Amino acid sequence: MNIEQATKQLERLRKEASTCTGTGKVASYIPELAKEDPCQLGVSICMPDGTILSAGEVNKPFTLQSISKIFSLIVALCQNGHQYVFERVGKEPTGDPFNSIIKLETIKPHKPLNPMINAGAIAVAGMIQGKNVQERLECLLDMLRKMTGNPNIHVNEAVYCSEKKTADRNRALAWFLKDSGVLTGDVEETLDLYFQHCSIEVTATEVARLGMVLAADGVDVCTGERVFPAEIARICKTFMVTCGMYNASGEFAIDVGIPAKSGVAGGIMATVPQRMGIGVFGPALDEKGNSVAGVKLLELLSKEWNLGIF
Ligand code: DON
Repeated sequence: MNIEQATKQLERLRKEASTCTGTGKVASYIPELAKEDPCQLGVSICMPDGTILSAGEVNKPFTLQSISKIFSLIVALCQNGHQYVFERVGKEPTGDPFNSIIKLETIKPHKPLNPMINAGAIAVAGMIQGKNVQERLECLLDMLRKMTGNPNIHVNEAVYCSEKKTADRNRALAWFLKDSGVLTGDVEETLDLYFQHCSIEVTATEVARLGMVLAADGVDVCTGERVFPAEIARICKTFMVTCGMYNASGEFAIDVGIPAKSGVAGGIMATVPQRMGIGVFGPALDEKGNSVAGVKLLELLSKEWNLGIF
């Protein structure tokens, strides 16, 4: 199939999926995200030779939110190694919403079950090294700038401040982690790093490039440079399958069958091993916090192009 035909197909599937944007709602617990137009839907695909296919709103900036948890995990693993990280955060799906607190208390030891839920990602942010929050954030920004080829990747200040002001639940999770000894450093600083990395701004096309690096086992196909070890890419893709769509991960694995990570700004990063990275932006969310039209679009795409990995 040539690029023109594939782009036509992509636009047809995007149109079909966009009919369900009306069944979702934009996130409102971070007030700044509630301003987004829920009808948008964009999709970009990055191929192993760096070619990009696109349809819809692919240049509209949005914040990574939970998609950033993959990249904070990569930085934490590169800096601390597998053993240190997984002594403090688990490898199991929860079956609970992304911001749930319940299992933190009921399961012993009190470490978060996985790095994709908020508690786990806050624990991971606590492991990122640097002499201050800015330096710790720069580790992540540097990697994302390299992987997207965009030296201007930055934090959306309005979204960051909006989350920081309203993050009582995340604060509760973080202080519980401090009490259980999972977080050892300054709690407010670690929260600050977490809010900022969630507020890093990207486009669907950039997310497709990020997904392609994972699909190529840690190599940036546009530069040929290895960004992180293949073993870390393998761990991330496994988490994407088991926990990437939270308590909808099982259903998504059956209906779509592609490793993916969602965020409450409406982004989804999907990665088809060796074949493509996919970036989706559709801010209307279902009740579990995943882009409603984005999930539909990935399901249609997976069926049409036989992308499922199982
Ligand atoms: O901590 C939060 O609630 C947000 N910054 C990120 C949550 C999120 O993206 C969940 N994803 N679907």
